[in-house]
Amino acid sequence: MQISVIGCGYLGAVHSACLAELGHDVVGIDIDENKIASLREGNAPFFEPGLPELLRSAGETGRLRFSSETADARGARIHFIAVGTPQKKGENAADLRFVDAAVESLLPYLSDGDIVVGKSTVPVGTARRLAERVTAANSTVSLVWNPEFLREGFAVQDTISPDRLVYGLQDPAGSPGPAAVLDEVYAGALARETPRIITDYETAELVKVSANAFLATKISFINAMAEVCEATGADVTQLADAIGLDNRIGRRFLNAGLGFGGGCLPKDIRAFMARAGELGVDQALSFLREVDAINMRRRNRTVDLAREVCGGSLIGRKIAVLGLAFKPDSDDVRDSPALNVAAQLQLQGAAVLGTDPQAVDNARLRFPELTLVKTVEEATEAADAVMILTEWKEYRQLDPHWLGQIVGAKTIVDGRNCLDPLTWRAAGWRYRALGRP
Ligand code: UGA
Repeated sequence: MQISVIGCGYLGAVHSACLAELGHDVVGIDIDENKIASLREGNAPFFEPGLPELLRSAGETGRLRFSSETADARGARIHFIAVGTPQKKGENAADLRFVDAAVESLLPYLSDGDIVVGKSTVPVGTARRLAERVTAANSTVSLVWNPEFLREGFAVQDTISPDRLVYGLQDPAGSPGPAAVLDEVYAGALARETPRIITDYETAELVKVSANAFLATKISFINAMAEVCEATGADVTQLADAIGLDNRIGRRFLNAGLGFGGGCLPKDIRAFMARAGELGVDQALSFLREVDAINMRRRNRTVDLAREVCGGSLIGRKIAVLGLAFKPDSDDVRDSPALNVAAQLQLQGAAVLGTDPQAVDNARLRFPELTLVKTVEEATEAADAVMILTEWKEYRQLDPHWLGQIVGAKTIVDGRNCLDPLTWRAAGWRYRALGRP
């Protein structure tokens, strides 16, 4: 199928490459010319495992093009909207400027029978508003809301083999036509019996934000338990293992630690609360305020823990921060708990040396005052304390004996509960973690 994808960020670039890999003819469009230049050369503008290989292999087929001109969407039958919906400055609500601009810029290039497919995460009610705009411009064009559930770090796998497909239609009972066209786009996944839910716009939009709200709540739940564990001497990781064995609860997303960050969960729960307020159902989501607060408290608690292991004051203490990205296998530092803690430590007088396998450049752009280095050796040399704030595999596998010869003091704060305390203590380290004795 002839497809255009408007927006080539984490979502759109991966989506474009995956659709081309699946055999479609795709043009990815973005107003950022640097991003387009990099994608044209087959370079991913951000770190995402598997994406460079995919850009190369799809590029070689001639089915994947990139352009900074929306006019190049002309001729495609399906147009995906994959632009960002960041948090508005100084408010909880989502900023829909990019979505609105993407749809507006596309209107002159739509042909009869085209389908516009929204993938961005939007407040409920957006799809119906955009559908009116699209059909006012051309009554033969339809709009579908098809939310995306990909995780950074697993984006390629999640796009090619999603857990489910959700199609929000204007008239799901009366006019399923656009659904049949979308079925052709996702023919591969559907042939593998991927569940597909056809519903109305509002449900489709809410599926996305409520899924993220649930995930955020699950993480904050276990982090609230970590707070109680800290007050009682209990171990939150064992608690998570034990409750996670109940299938109704499940162990995934019960990793206590520094909490959630990134470009999605924090801003999505806030935008959801803001929208609920507009709809007059703010009480229904007031628990999300607590979810947000529990999450942010973990960052302060981690700073306090650092101060504690440094003997009550951070001033002049040399602290090695391992991990700056909001999660492993990503170079994304948007609302990264790790970078936030590193910055707080620095602002409170510590001499922070931070490192990350992929996120150093992005972290430097966001927080230029931090001293960032390339290797664990450089970061930890003569350190008074080592803090693991993003659980990259290379940090989970660190050898405590090797590291013990580099640091100044064998003190480690495990901000992600990703190390085995017995091993580290046996190697002579003072080991501290969140929610564990
Ligand atoms: C999240 C959702 O998981 C995706 O399903 C969704 O499509 C995406 O947002 C989006 O809306 O686009 P992502 O932001 O890539 O994906 O990251 P997650 O894997 O959800 O992790 C979010 C944060 O939670 C990370 O900071 C991670 O370290 C933290 N986390 C995760 C925990 O603290 N504990 C856990 O048990 C799991």
